[in-house]
Amino acid sequence: MKYNMKDDILHILLSAEEIDAKIQEIAEQITKDYENKNLLMVSVLKGSVVFMADLMRAIKIPARIDFMSVSSYGKGTASSGIVKIIKDLDIPLEGYDLLLVEDILDSGKTLYHLRSMLSQRKPNSIRIATLLNKPARREVDIQPDYSCFDVPDEFVVGYGLDFDEKYRNLPFIGVLKPQVYTK
Ligand code: IMP
Ligand code: MG
Repeated sequence: MKYNMKDDILHILLSAEEIDAKIQEIAEQITKDYENKNLLMVSVLKGSVVFMADLMRAIKIPARIDFMSVSSYGKGTASSGIVKIIKDLDIPLEGYDLLLVEDILDSGKTLYHLRSMLSQRKPNSIRIATLLNKPARREVDIQPDYSCFDVPDEFVVGYGLDFDEKYRNLPFIGVLKPQVYTK
């Protein structure tokens, strides 16, 4: 084989096995917590799709699912926190217990605004499940209710997370070699 994207990885932060084990753990907790509720899992595209696919299959009670796509207004790569809906949910939220499924909670601005927007639609409850949490980068007051791993302030890819829309299909979470950014 000529090129393998794994060659662009400096080091693996979380292996596929470590991720799977942790997902089974939080899924067990979610199964307990939502036993008498009306669970609707909402995946925020695109970064959370891999996590969503594994998490939903590890949950032992019936769950509905839906997808949403949002973008931040404003210039620059740092998220401005003003959220524009690109693809909205298909159903009204009244009567549902919403679980927002995210890839990573970084500044927290995206989810902060998304949560307040969705709470106006009067769901029974809203909670947040994130694969990764970068507490050092938080700029607004928001915490995940379920989080698989705290990670250091390093840019990571794989398992749904991208750099320039690439590397989402790596089965693990890793740090890219610096020369990949400067190419
Ligand atoms: P924030 O919490 O509003 O700052 O934005 C979180 C979003 O930024 C995530 O959903 C990711 O799309 C992206 N993001 C933040 N940190 C990383 C990273 O280390 N790798 C890949 N994407 C990231
Ligand atoms: Mg994202």
